[in-house]
Amino acid sequence: MNDLLDEMAVVITGSGRGLGRAYALAAAAEGAAVVVNDLDVDTAEAVVAEITEAGGRAVVSGHDVSDWDAAAELIGLCVESFGRIDGLVNNAGILRVNRPEEQTERDTLDVVNSSLLGTVACSTHALRHMCEAGRGVIVNVTSGQQMGAPVMAVYGAAKAAVATLTYSWSQDLQASGVRVNAISPNAHTRMADVYEEFLGTRATGQNVGIEPESNAPLVIYLLSELSEGVSGQVFRFDGQRLMVCAHPTVIAPDAYLPEGRTARDVAAVVAGELAGLFQPSGIRRISAPMFQ
Ligand SMILES: NC(=O)c1ccc[n+]([C@@H]2O[C@H](COP(=O)([O-])OP(=O)(O)OC[C@H]3O[C@@H](n4cnc5c(N)ncnc54)[C@H](O)[C@@H]3O)[C@@H](O)[C@H]2O)c1
Repeated sequence: MNDLLDEMAVVITGSGRGLGRAYALAAAAEGAAVVVNDLDVDTAEAVVAEITEAGGRAVVSGHDVSDWDAAAELIGLCVESFGRIDGLVNNAGILRVNRPEEQTERDTLDVVNSSLLGTVACSTHALRHMCEAGRGVIVNVTSGQQMGAPVMAVYGAAKAAVATLTYSWSQDLQASGVRVNAISPNAHTRMADVYEEFLGTRATGQNVGIEPESNAPLVIYLLSELSEGVSGQVFRFDGQRLMVCAHPTVIAPDAYLPEGRTARDVAAVVAGELAGLFQPSGIRRISAPMFQ
């Protein structure tokens, strides 16, 4: 039996540590040639060494995915090194935790630039090659926080935007041979430590016991032909259980507002036909704040 990613060249962003490292090692073990990218280039070098010592193929990239030109160079490195690009995992991301009234410009830019701008920049450059080749796979990385969560509004918003890119691009690319899906992973990584630090004495062990490696089979499935025909989907893995996430949508019934409508007409419809349809938020649709 052939390895699942034989003949494929893939770029995995932010793969010097944590979840990205696990995806890179698993992709190489399945026969892919891998560009191991990380802003912390020393960590990426260590992962490349691990892959090559095990007999795999990998090259290092220290590009910042949130820099448009650097993202172009990163994708170009894959094509120059391996002659092609078949897969891109937009894994690089940063978490900053703040109460909304304490949000800073710096934290906002860091979070949005790494997850959202990075995903757009790397995907745009990769798609230029993939659309021309008539094949390719993009795996985006979102989070359960995209559904709304205390103290992670901007992070969740950036991840929700990544989910929306997934829905939109899968529609744009329907006839192109390129598939786009997203994952919402879970693992105890450096990122989990950021949240634990914020919680302080209220911390209960964020994702303790969930190894990054446990998420890798989902990424390999999405990169491989095993997922042929699957596009525009967001899969969530919680360490044991695999789930499909619902897309945002409107809820029936639609209520008719008469011509010459006023705010009082709106109030009457909200209290009438739309009564009982208000949506709770959060990953398990629990709207009560977890803490004050
Ligand atoms: N850990 C979880 O439970 C969890 C849950 C949901 C989503 N995610 C997402 O999974 C991804 C990986 O998270 P992790 O937990 O492994 O985090 P991590 O902090 O352990 O690793 C992220 C890596 O991305 C790199 N990086 C950040 N910005 C970059 C940039 N601009 N260019 C290149 N590299 C950059 C970092 O240097 C780091 O090595 C992130 O997108 C995160 O939002 C993680």
